[in-house]
Amino acid sequence: FGYVSMGSVHAGGVDYEAVRKAIADTLEDESYDDGSLGPVLVRLAWHASGTYSKKDGTGGSNGAKMRFFPEAFHGANNGLSVARNHLARIKKQFPEISNADLWTLAACVAIEEMGGPEIAWRPGRTDDNDGKLCTPDDRLPDAAQGADHVRAVFGRMGFSDREMVALIGAHCLGRCHENRSGYKGPWTRAPTTFSNMYFTELVGNRWTRKNWDGPLQYEDPTGELMMLPADMALLHDPAFAVVVKEYAADEELFFRDFAAAFAKLLELGCDFDGPSTTTKAVTAAGVV
Ligand code: HEM
Repeated sequence: FGYVSMGSVHAGGVDYEAVRKAIADTLEDESYDDGSLGPVLVRLAWHASGTYSKKDGTGGSNGAKMRFFPEAFHGANNGLSVARNHLARIKKQFPEISNADLWTLAACVAIEEMGGPEIAWRPGRTDDNDGKLCTPDDRLPDAAQGADHVRAVFGRMGFSDREMVALIGAHCLGRCHENRSGYKGPWTRAPTTFSNMYFTELVGNRWTRKNWDGPLQYEDPTGELMMLPADMALLHDPAFAVVVKEYAADEELFFRDFAAAFAKLLELGCDFDGPSTTTKAVTAAGVV
């Protein structure tokens, strides 16, 4: 492991292999949603990180700011207490790891355990002690909007068109919950498997407006699968659509691009001293 930043691996004496295993061993929960906490853990890391603004360097996963008022109560974060509470139990077993490291590591482990690519991850985030650095409630994307909004929000984080499409491919996982976002249903029929099925469903179906009392969303001909207006924007915007079709045709390419973009997302606004490494390489270093 000569290339691993042993400095940061050693820092704090955290047994990352044990943390990793504790996360992996507790993902399955038959009583919850589709049987796995994986999707909601991925959403927690994304919402913790996606507040970043390259304009002033505010936001991002460092600090684990969503533990505090007002960020915990931002509408976009509805339901994420499930993920925060789950990881708080793991944190009790491993008090040395920061919440900010634990939240981001948990998403990487979840993606890998659900069949996705290995994600480069490194420790070194610290926790804030109060909500003073919480960002305003306007940083995360609005599902009711289209391509211009998606570009504005992800552009503020510093992502390219291609990275935006790759990241939103995480909607292969999980589902919408009426009591959290107002929207309802999963994007794929295998919502606990990381795959390129979000893209194959997006290009492979005729999507129509769902006829219901809820907010505008789209459904496939069976009525079982859904797309948000912001998802449909990836199909209707010509530049996004080129990438959507590439990922629908080539899962390996999607995995590669997603892994790179997700690693970048988790590090926005974080100031590390060592080089990045993979979760497995860090955790393989074991007790340090
Ligand atoms: C779920 C919107 C991008 C990962 C959701 C939900 C909405 C949403 C409305 C449903 C929440 C609920 O009711 O529980 C959006 C919009 C995006 C976006 C508008 C960008 C335009 C992303 C990105 C990721 C992501 C970049 C990760 C890289 C997830 C996951 C779920 C989810 C895993 C499922 C959560 C669960 O099953 O509990 N998203 N999202 N999303 N989102 Fe996104």
